[in-house]
Amino acid sequence: MIELERSLEVFNRIIKDLLADEELKPVAEHIPSARLYNRLDLKLRKEGISSAELEKSLKDLVFTTPRTATNAFFNQLFGGRQDKAILGDLLAVMLNNSMYTYKAAGPQIGVEKVVLREVCDLIGWDKNSDGTLAPGGSMTNFMGMLMARDAFNEKTRFEGVHQKMTVYTSKESHYSTPKNAAFAGIGRDNVRKIASDDYGRMDNTILRKTIEEDIVNGFHPILINCTAGTTVLGAFDNIEEASIIAKEFNIWLHVDGAYCGSVLFSKKYKHLIAGIEKVDSFSINAHKMLGTPLGCSLIVVKDKKHLHDSFSNDATYLYQTDHDEFNLGKTSIQCGRRNDALKLWVLWKSVGTNGLELIVDKQLELADTARDYIRNHTDYIDYSVDDSVSICFNYKGIPARDICTLLYEHSELLVGYGSFGKDEFIRLVTINATNENEDILNFFKIMETFVEENEVLFLKEKAN
Ligand SMILES: Cc1ncc(COP(=O)(O)O)c(C=O)c1O
Repeated sequence: MIELERSLEVFNRIIKDLLADEELKPVAEHIPSARLYNRLDLKLRKEGISSAELEKSLKDLVFTTPRTATNAFFNQLFGGRQDKAILGDLLAVMLNNSMYTYKAAGPQIGVEKVVLREVCDLIGWDKNSDGTLAPGGSMTNFMGMLMARDAFNEKTRFEGVHQKMTVYTSKESHYSTPKNAAFAGIGRDNVRKIASDDYGRMDNTILRKTIEEDIVNGFHPILINCTAGTTVLGAFDNIEEASIIAKEFNIWLHVDGAYCGSVLFSKKYKHLIAGIEKVDSFSINAHKMLGTPLGCSLIVVKDKKHLHDSFSNDATYLYQTDHDEFNLGKTSIQCGRRNDALKLWVLWKSVGTNGLELIVDKQLELADTARDYIRNHTDYIDYSVDDSVSICFNYKGIPARDICTLLYEHSELLVGYGSFGKDEFIRLVTINATNENEDILNFFKIMETFVEENEVLFLKEKAN
């Protein structure tokens, strides 16, 4: 048997055991970071180890790693396993193509192009639209910002930034915007953090006023960033309104849909991104709402010229055959690039667009279950907004961070906390579409029982 086959058998054995163990223990053993190197032998040595020792070591590592696919993981904006997407990703690993040229990736280029075309069609854009993929939303948002910068002044990509450019995004938006402004030479200080309304949506009246003031003061507004699903509340900015302002002042409009842009697939919830066809660029993380493995982030643009303008570069050592249309390195921020489209394509091919819609709708159904529970139980204070998969609440007046940390340290549940305004609360994310309503109700049961049985711990935390 060839070595690779043996390694794949090891993989199968470990995963089979892991899946069985996850059924019994949805939360992995908690290893405090201070004890990590004592608990696990992670050390690399001069001499290798035997296959049996390696398998044992791998199993130990896998079994003690946080379990993100179980019904006890609500911590971040991803979770669960869509098995067909996993199949696609495993094939991508085996094939190991790089997506820069048709010569190196062949039909896989078609896979990516078909995915992007379908997304553009769903938005309602014509054949002049296109897109690309990158490892995550931070990076696809960065690409949106770079295109905005270069569209404002095409000389920038040659000469650098010489103008006082400004970017507009809500206070509730993701931290990638200020980081990206630094990377893009625009500068963090030139990101205007626009206040949100009571529902976490960017206040477009303040947005307009801020733009007007900046213009008077000699700044050049280049980008409005709307968010479709803010990181904490899961709120949707009003894209229609923002698009009117963007048009009036001739500013690039990007929508960061990393978290919840996938409502595009849902007839019931697409209204949350009404006006999406009017924007210049839109990013969606399939590894969040669509449940593919990390990372799978798409950015689509209404006019593909901007992708070429900002990201193409000649390289005779690379581009040696075929048309640019099939050499996707010409529209990518990376050189060598993993085939992240395949996992989404396999999932999509398998369940169809209707199946993706069910995946999205299911999360919002689970969110309704969670919100109903909170709103019907007097021990809870609800901070959530409707039509969001972030359920925000406090329980019995106990600090959210104490509950989340103790649940984690006792390997009960993984859930995080967030804040909006002055309030800090637990944020339960119902993004795992493989969960059922009972799993959500079970979350509350586990948390409530834990609080009841560990009163002393909470008192101790309070005293600290
Ligand atoms: C609104 C929003 N934008 C962007 C990102 C960044 O996405 P990624 O983690 O894929 O870089 C996130 C991540 O949670 C997000 O919530």
